[in-house]
Amino acid sequence: EKDKGLIRDSWESLGKNKVPHGIVLFTRLFELDPALLTLFSYSTNCGDAPECLSSPEFLEHVTKVMLVIDAAVSHLDDLHTLEDFLLNLGRKHQAVGVNTQSFALVGESLLYMLQSSLGPAYTTSLRQAWLTMYSIVVSAMTRGWAK
Ligand code: HEM
Repeated sequence: EKDKGLIRDSWESLGKNKVPHGIVLFTRLFELDPALLTLFSYSTNCGDAPECLSSPEFLEHVTKVMLVIDAAVSHLDDLHTLEDFLLNLGRKHQAVGVNTQSFALVGESLLYMLQSSLGPAYTTSLRQAWLTMYSIVVSAMTRGWAK
């Protein structure tokens, strides 16, 4: 319950500015693994990170990711209701060539984004609370790879 409060409070302001915070997350992700840029092949402009980060299709994906996080935060009391949605989302990512290991880097980038926007409010317990929620989301998505 304490974890839920930490997550909700920290997301309250971040969630109002999804695109800028999502850009911080993906900028970090592409620093950690530039090869992920190539998976956004729908955008012919995605030659490098700055080009990708300014492409409208890519920014739509940034918004989509942030909306999924937003949904998880809103459903902290009943995350299991998102399971089917997340499993299907995992399937779609398998289809576009994403590797499940990449989700660990997304998690690191999410924490990086939280740390850079929350500053001193980013505590060990807040970090742990987010990691726990994120790992539930990722394990549900990862089930989309089975079979
Ligand atoms: C769709 C790539 C991580 C949420 C897509 C698509 C691509 C893609 C290529 C299809 C085109 C599009 O809709 O823009 C990636 C890569 C990721 C990643 C390379 C990181 C390794 C995530 C994460 C989430 C997410 C972590 C949410 C937690 C979505 C959603 C869609 C989508 C909601 C739309 C699915 C639909 O059409 O129903 N992603 N993605 N993505 N992604 Fe990701």
